[in-house]
Amino acid sequence: MNHFSLVGGALHCEGVALSRIAEDVGTPTYVYSTATLTRHLDVVQHAFHARPTLVCYSVKACSNLAILKLFAKQGAGFDIVSGGELERVRRVGGDLRKVVFAGVGKTEAEMIAAVRAGILMFNVESAEELEALDRVGRRLGIPAPFALRVNPDVDAKTHRYIATGLKTSKFGVPVEEAVALYRKSKRMKGLVARGLDCHIGSQLTDTRPVREAMARVGDVYRTLKAQGFPLTHLDVGGGLGVTYTTETPPGVADYAKAVLQPLSGLDATLVLEPGRVLVANAGVLLTRVLYRKVTPAKHFVIVDAGMNDLMRPALYEAHHDIRPVVPRKGKKHTVDVVGPVCESTDVLGHRRVLPTLKQGDLLAVMTAGAYGMSMSSSYNSRPRPAEVLVDGDRPRVVRTRETLTDLMRGETP
Ligand code: LLP
Repeated sequence: MNHFSLVGGALHCEGVALSRIAEDVGTPTYVYSTATLTRHLDVVQHAFHARPTLVCYSVKACSNLAILKLFAKQGAGFDIVSGGELERVRRVGGDLRKVVFAGVGKTEAEMIAAVRAGILMFNVESAEELEALDRVGRRLGIPAPFALRVNPDVDAKTHRYIATGLKTSKFGVPVEEAVALYRKSKRMKGLVARGLDCHIGSQLTDTRPVREAMARVGDVYRTLKAQGFPLTHLDVGGGLGVTYTTETPPGVADYAKAVLQPLSGLDATLVLEPGRVLVANAGVLLTRVLYRKVTPAKHFVIVDAGMNDLMRPALYEAHHDIRPVVPRKGKKHTVDVVGPVCESTDVLGHRRVLPTLKQGDLLAVMTAGAYGMSMSSSYNSRPRPAEVLVDGDRPRVVRTRETLTDLMRGETP
């Protein structure tokens, strides 16, 4: 469900024509729908509400302050992976007691900031990190709340670049070592065991690996409770997939079943870390056709957004639908939609069937809200796009387009 649709023959975001945004703000621009964002969070919060649950939005998916503020107002917590993301949550007045902090390489400075902020828990990913966190907790005189992220060794059946729960992955500690590490933590006075955590991967479209992982972490949680650890939170990670093209991910209700059934009777507040499912189809990347080029081998449509603006196609061979903002009837062409970046991987869409396009026409790259702007770069010295958040018939620029001064900030010739 999203709020991008044709109204009077032109693609709109809620009540606002995308062509109007392009005229006012320029292109490339990310456009997000408030109604879609709030609805998605609401659906996830409700699917689990039979149990005590905390939904922690995974900030990395789309970290614009306006989106964080919207979710904070709706009661979300946040899943962060850096001091930068902690600062973002702080700036929007998010509840820091609802923050979980994951990542294999937290620095001491990041740990200090997060302990001082009073976050819910650190999701610790190695024995050495646990020791470092203990040192920080002792030094500050504030025991640091932690969960161990266990690696349940399940195949999430997703793209290999975004699977995280296999034993060959850098994430988490092997499930067999978890209990011994919790025991060891008892002697560490700078720590307090608060929970257990796992996350098996992203863009999950099959509930079986989710059930399998839940069964394994559920067992570890029960063992730890039986041994007297005062755990209160089981963090089940994020990962629920969305439809980019022909994928058929489970609905939120089925996903909730897959998580909850193996955990029935477990005395824990569940923490969820959804990212993509909340924001992916709430955003599009608006871009303009610069040129067409027909060669004996190919028909190219060259647009003003490139792999620096949306790197998912180049990095994961990801498919994003590309739609004309004002669709024309008539002849269709099979074209490659490519960006201006000097790389052969700068292709936003291979072999797309699109109506005849002219210079200046607008295209919307769909389902670009997750890992779009947040993974953008200024490669080729291209200023990063603007971001616009639409609410009803009101568009609001929530990040101005980068300027050339922004682009070179901090450099010395
Ligand atoms: N929790 C942890 C510990 C994670 O590592 C992630 C994502 C999430 C939650 C949120 O997962 P989600 O619900 O969004 O699937 N750049 C890639 C996706 C990388 C995911 C990284 N971790 C992409 O564009 O597909």
